[in-house]
Amino acid sequence: MTFADKTILVTGAGRGLGKALVDEALSRGAKRVYAGTRQPLTHPDERVTPLTLDVTDAVQIAAAAETVGSLDILINNAGIYGYEEVADRAALERQLDVNLFGPYAVIQALLPRLVESQGAIVNVLSLAAVAALPISPAYSISKAAAFSLTQSLRATLAGHGVDVHAVLPGPVDTDMVRDLDIPKTSPQSVARAIFDGLAKGEEEIFPDPFSQSLADSWNTGAVKALERQNAGLVP
Ligand SMILES: NC(=O)c1ccc[n+]([C@@H]2O[C@H](COP(=O)([O-])OP(=O)(O)OC[C@H]3O[C@@H](n4cnc5c(N)ncnc54)[C@H](OP(=O)(O)O)[C@@H]3O)[C@@H](O)[C@H]2O)c1
Repeated sequence: MTFADKTILVTGAGRGLGKALVDEALSRGAKRVYAGTRQPLTHPDERVTPLTLDVTDAVQIAAAAETVGSLDILINNAGIYGYEEVADRAALERQLDVNLFGPYAVIQALLPRLVESQGAIVNVLSLAAVAALPISPAYSISKAAAFSLTQSLRATLAGHGVDVHAVLPGPVDTDMVRDLDIPKTSPQSVARAIFDGLAKGEEEIFPDPFSQSLADSWNTGAVKALERQNAGLVP
């Protein structure tokens, strides 16, 4: 995949990894970058079109789909994190609303554009999707569910010419984990690695040194083999 002259939409684009993804898309020659944010955004590059987009707001999602004339790459980056008890159902519902049903709804709304362009969906998940963080069970459940959605879409959209990628980062140095005193990778470096992974056509992108240590065993492992076998069930 190349990015020159592509139209790219990034959700959660106002700060953190989303902001870095917008800048990386621009530096790789994107023709237009739709920056979905909840707060008003201004950007010095005229190729950036701000979009008011709370991924839990059906009206805003429908309006965004109207605004976006054509689209090559949808990057579902918006997300929330939290430390909750596993018994806290309200917290689980909050996490699922943003981290699962958010990208689900945005994908449904923009899928016709991506089929037209034979484009790609990029879901920014987390290593917590494959190994739960027991300090954040609701987050982990939401990311695991979004990973399962990613695998199902990958298999079912392959015949429609749309590629579906999962990004599985370890800790990234953003507001989300500001209070965690652990090694983190800069959002700029993670954004670069995500675009490098897309350029190479990687289905799972491990965009930092921590997650990269899983890449080889993931790609040759039993779970990936089973995913490929299951994909054969799609008529
Ligand atoms: N940081 C990490 O260690 C880490 C590790 C693995 C995966 N990730 C994933 O990376 C992605 C980006 O996270 P980050 O690290 O950049 O975190 P962040 O700095 O906290 O940024 C989160 C972004 O998501 C947006 N957002 C939250 N709820 C939203 C909603 N309902 N609708 C639209 N946008 C919403 C926020 O917008 P506002 O500015 O309006 O709040 C913000 O732009 C997330 O999916 C996260 O799960 C992060």
